[in-house]
Formats: sequence, structure tokens, C-alpha cells
Amino acid sequence: MSWLEKPVKALLLDISGVLRDGDQAIVGSLEAFQRLQEIGIPFRLVTNETQVTVQKTVEKLSKLGFTSISPSLIFAPAPAVATFLKETLSRAFLLVHPNVLPEFDGIETSDPNCVVVGDAAEHFNYSRLNEAFRVLLRLREENKEMQLYSLGKGKYYKEEDGLCLDLGPFTAALEYATGADARIFGKPNPVFFHAAVQDMKMSPDEVVMIGDDILGDVGGAQRAGLRGVLVRTGKFRISDENHATVKPDGIVDNLLQAVNLIMSHYN
Ligand SMILES: *[C@@H]1O[C@H](CO)[C@@H](O)[C@H](O)[C@H]1NC(C)=O
Ligand SMILES: *[C@@H]1O[C@H](CO)[C@@H](O)[C@H](O)[C@H]1NC(C)=O
Ligand SMILES: [Mg+2]
Repeated sequence: MSWLEKPVKALLLDISGVLRDGDQAIVGSLEAFQRLQEIGIPFRLVTNETQVTVQKTVEKLSKLGFTSISPSLIFAPAPAVATFLKETLSRAFLLVHPNVLPEFDGIETSDPNCVVVGDAAEHFNYSRLNEAFRVLLRLREENKEMQLYSLGKGKYYKEEDGLCLDLGPFTAALEYATGADARIFGKPNPVFFHAAVQDMKMSPDEVVMIGDDILGDVGGAQRAGLRGVLVRTGKFRISDENHATVKPDGIVDNLLQAVNLIMSHYN
């Protein structure tokens, strides 16, 4: 159990596939979450949800029984980009889902000098994509850098009615057409993990990331200097246990098992 050899001082938890699966709490996760709060181990939730606001995510979790989560505990790509846009005084063309627009309140959108791509789902249409394309081309013609920011790089995800194109292919279309190189916010970018780790005033090697995505969660966390533990819930597949490039520091059946292991190790 190598991941428990060094003290586990804090945790990062993925939301989808670890706490909940769609509209259902994952077996044991409510109990695990309650124990975490009882023992007072610091944690942050890191998600790449880009279709809704953090506030909405809090409400959805609360309905499932994950109560008393303050929005400040949740790290999601849209607020991270919004902060970055404010710091750099950027004016953005926002190719994002209308539901997530509140995260971009206060961002100047006229005369854009960058493009932000989120999971706009049915709001990705030809004219919007083409507008984004034209913004980038105009920047290139003005000899400015083509700033293309993407809230993730997912290829596709699963909905009840089947697989759905994620934002990655749309970002790739803009890269292909313009030659721009998208900067990815969110997992698996180490900067994203580090922001959550620093928020807890920890260093990466003191923190364990628990997630169901072998690449985005486990591999991403490991590259950022954290330990990465894989859960056998959510999108987990048996083949992930023998992944070609990523070796998890630990594999557990679910969040509850991870929390029980941490507790038994330190009591
Ligand atoms: C494309 O999407 C935008 C944003 O949702 C919408 O305003 C516009 O009407 C759509 N255009 C078409 C052709 O559907
Ligand atoms: C979100 O992250 C997961 C890993 O947790 C990844 O598989 C998925 O493709 C990502 N989606 C986006 C929007 O980047
Ligand atoms: Mg997940």
C-alpha cells in the first residue's frame, strides 16, 4: 500500500465518478464524505465540469446529501479561466454554454483578444464556431498571438442516451483551421492541481488525488507531484489497472474504502 506510506495530509477528490454518477450518489460516498469532515482532513473538490457554474454544482451535490460544501472548496476550469482573464485584462470571445456564463461576469467581451472554449454542447453551432475562428484569424493578421483557451481536452463523455462529443474536438477544429495552440485549463494541467493544493497550504507530496479517470485524474496528479489513487467506480474499466503509461499509487473499490484505509492507517 505504497500510497499510505507517506502521511496523507490532504485530499483532492474528483466529483463525477467518485462522489456521484449522474444523479446518484455512489455507494459509500456519502458515508465517506461524512467521515472526512469528522476527522477534519482538508480536502478540495476538483472537477472539469464546464456546463454549469460552481454554484449549481454545489446545489446538485447538496440534493444528493453532500451538504455544507462551500463553493470555495470546488476547483473548476471556468472560474480558473475567468480569474486568469481578469488578471491579464483580456477581452474574451466566450464559446461556452450559456449556463456557465455567470462565471464570466465582469469579463469584457467586446473587441476580443482571445477565445475561450467550454463544453457548449448544442450551443456549438457553425456560426459561433466560425465567429471564434474569425477572432483568431484577425489576431493573426494583426500579428498578435492567437490566444485560444480551452476548459479541458476531453474527447467525449457519456450521457444517458449515449456518447457525446466533448469540447476537445471543437478546440481541435479551431487549432486545425488557424494553427493556434490551445492552452488547456483544468485537469490534467499541473497548474490546476497546484492551485487546489496551494489553497490548502500544502505541498503536492502531502496530497492524494482520488479519481476515476486513469489519465486525467491519476496521471495528471502524479505529474503534478501528488499521489494518484484510482477508484473502481464511475468510468473505471478493468483495463485501467494495467494501463500502459499510468501506474496508480493505489487502487480502491470506492471512496469509502480509501477513506477507511486512511483512517485505519493513522489511528
Ligand atoms: C448558434 O448558437 C448561438 C448561441 O447559442 C445562438 O444565439 C444562435 O442563434 C445559433 N445559431 C443558429 C444558426 O442556430
Ligand atoms: C474531464 O476529466 C476527465 C478526467 O476526470 C476526462 O476524462 C474528461 O475527458 C474531461 N473532460 C473535459 C471537459 O475535459
Ligand atoms: Mg471523474
